[in-house]
Amino acid sequence: MVETQVPLSARLHLFCLLWIAAFVSIFFWQRNSLSGPSDFGLHRRAATVGLSQFPRLRPRSFDLTEFGAAGDGITVNTGAFERAVARIAGVGWRGGGGQLNVPPGRWLTGPFNLTSHMTLFLAEGAEILGIQDQRYWPLMPPLPSYGYGREHPGPRYGSLIHGQNLRDVVITGHNGTINGQGQSWWKKHREKLLNNTRGPLIQIMWSSDIIISNITLRDSPFWTLHPYDCRNMTIKKLTILAPTFDAPNTDGIDPDSCEDVVIEDCYISVGDDAVAIKSGWDQYGIAYGRPSRNILIRNLVVRSMVSAGISIGSEMSGGVINVTVDSVVVWDSRRAVRIKTAPGRGGYIKDIRYRNVVFDNVRVGILIKTDYNEHPDEGFDLTAVPTIEDITFSGIHGQGVRVPVRIHGSKEIPIRNVTFRDMSVGLTYKKKRVFQCAFVQGRVTGTIFPTPCENLDLYDEQGRLVKRSASNNTTDIDDDF
Ligand SMILES: *[C@@H]1O[C@H](CO)[C@@H](O)[C@H](O)[C@H]1NC(C)=O
Ligand SMILES: *[C@@H]1O[C@H](CO)[C@@H](O)[C@H](O)[C@H]1NC(C)=O
Ligand SMILES: *[C@@H]1O[C@H](CO)[C@@H](O)[C@H](O)[C@H]1NC(C)=O
Ligand SMILES: *[C@@H]1O[C@H](CO)[C@@H](O)[C@H](O)[C@H]1NC(C)=O
Ligand SMILES: *[C@@H]1O[C@H](CO)[C@@H](O)[C@H](O)[C@H]1NC(C)=O
Ligand SMILES: *[C@@H]1O[C@H](CO)[C@@H](O)[C@H](O)[C@H]1NC(C)=O
Ligand SMILES: *[C@@H]1O[C@H](CO)[C@@H](O)[C@H](O)[C@H]1NC(C)=O
Ligand SMILES: *[C@@H]1O[C@H](CO)[C@@H](O)[C@H](O)[C@H]1NC(C)=O
Ligand SMILES: *[C@@H]1O[C@H](CO)[C@@H](O)[C@H](O)[C@H]1NC(C)=O
Repeated sequence: MVETQVPLSARLHLFCLLWIAAFVSIFFWQRNSLSGPSDFGLHRRAATVGLSQFPRLRPRSFDLTEFGAAGDGITVNTGAFERAVARIAGVGWRGGGGQLNVPPGRWLTGPFNLTSHMTLFLAEGAEILGIQDQRYWPLMPPLPSYGYGREHPGPRYGSLIHGQNLRDVVITGHNGTINGQGQSWWKKHREKLLNNTRGPLIQIMWSSDIIISNITLRDSPFWTLHPYDCRNMTIKKLTILAPTFDAPNTDGIDPDSCEDVVIEDCYISVGDDAVAIKSGWDQYGIAYGRPSRNILIRNLVVRSMVSAGISIGSEMSGGVINVTVDSVVVWDSRRAVRIKTAPGRGGYIKDIRYRNVVFDNVRVGILIKTDYNEHPDEGFDLTAVPTIEDITFSGIHGQGVRVPVRIHGSKEIPIRNVTFRDMSVGLTYKKKRVFQCAFVQGRVTGTIFPTPCENLDLYDEQGRLVKRSASNNTTDIDDDF
């Protein structure tokens, strides 16, 4: 057999280019946003803080302090936020909606709801702080597609900033922060002192035309940003942070049964998946039946030391279709890109493209796992097997990867029509089996590194068949790492 090796220099070259491209673009907006519009410059910004602090984005705007808020980090401002939102609801669509300006300061609050046609604007130096006392957090019914809180049966805590059945909502600013102060929640969760599932930092449900941009989200009690059954959503220029260890379930962004979503230009480093596309859990998700579809994820730098950079699943019972992951760097992570599911989920994962993805120091690069057996209750149907098909990987590069590919299909859940093209991943050390497969059918176009598993058909660059696979179901999985 011919050992197919992309020359090391070519690999390094490409790898460096991609890293540089990703960082240049992310840092460019960071710098850009710091220096503001070029015709104003820095000192105008300093001289006229009052003006430049709050660009006028709606015809009516209000300052949080008008509603009696105090940014001292001690006063509980839930009432002020609620009064402000009620005022904006009163302006309504005919009035063009309203903007709520949050000035620099530390604005402690309990959970509150947003309204339609509203812009929440966080000045530079503004920080909304989630109150840690769980008695301020209202309980809400479980999400219909989960049937359960997620960690506990029954009701779940709502999110710090919540919205449902809304249209035209913007959360933005000059990189102000929404801080969930999740530490006390993580501790109580570890000590098993909670009877209900923790709340997300921001949860928007059954809503459309949503923009969340140019702010920092940190230390969420649970998932950070959770769009649920929403349409037309743009999430961009976010910095999402949580400790990389001991911040359980602090996923970055979890689009869940959502349609037409763009996630771009974000830096995410959290205690669980950076992005996880979902669509409900087992029989509840199948009954609810809303897929996540038309999702574009591009230009992100992400890190997840305990989980994965970009995940699909494991809750995917409503289906996931038409997802593009483009120009993403995953660094210092356990898994880079992952699809996870299990018998009982039902649904499908289909038409998924990964291109220009860089892995830098990750244990497993590409992981597909079909035995993620975590179920809401005993009521799931084992014969409801998901289908996984039409998945393309192109322009996959990186270094410091232990297992570049592990596609673990099974007899019940075979993986169909996977395509690899233009891949070169530098290994941490050469184990014998670094491209692991089981029950997968698909093709490789051109030469890739490492040498693909024998389950895949080989084609040359011109698309001519070179060698057909002898068997789809050869199993060569080694679950170390
Ligand atoms: C926004 O703030 C976060 C946290 O302080 C920081 O890491 C990030 O670089 C800032 N982004 C911009 C665009 O200034
Ligand atoms: C927000 O609205 C939902 C739906 O009406 C309600 O269940 C929830 O309690 C509200 N949250 C707060 C903090 O008022
Ligand atoms: C984003 O935030 C920065 C400050 O960090 C600000 O200078 C810039 O104007 C903001 N961009 C937008 C589009 O609001
Ligand atoms: C959880 O339930 C137990 C038993 O009913 C109760 O003693 C405890 O106070 C509850 N904890 C919380 C945080 O509600
Ligand atoms: C999507 O939402 C944006 C922002 O609210 C809006 O400008 C745009 O018209 C919406 N697009 C569609 C197709 O509704
Ligand atoms: C797939 O999603 C993209 C947006 O990410 C959209 O432009 C395209 O039309 C979708 N394709 C189909 C077949 O719906
Ligand atoms: C395999 O997937 C590719 C794209 O991922 C798609 O274009 C092609 O039609 C699929 N082939 C079959 C036989 O479904
Ligand atoms: C694997 O496929 C071959 C035919 O290609 C078949 O004979 C064999 O039974 C299959 N093994 C399993 C475990 O499905
Ligand atoms: C591989 O799987 C495909 C699609 O499931 C099937 O058409 C084909 O016959 C299989 N080939 C082998 C060698 O098992």
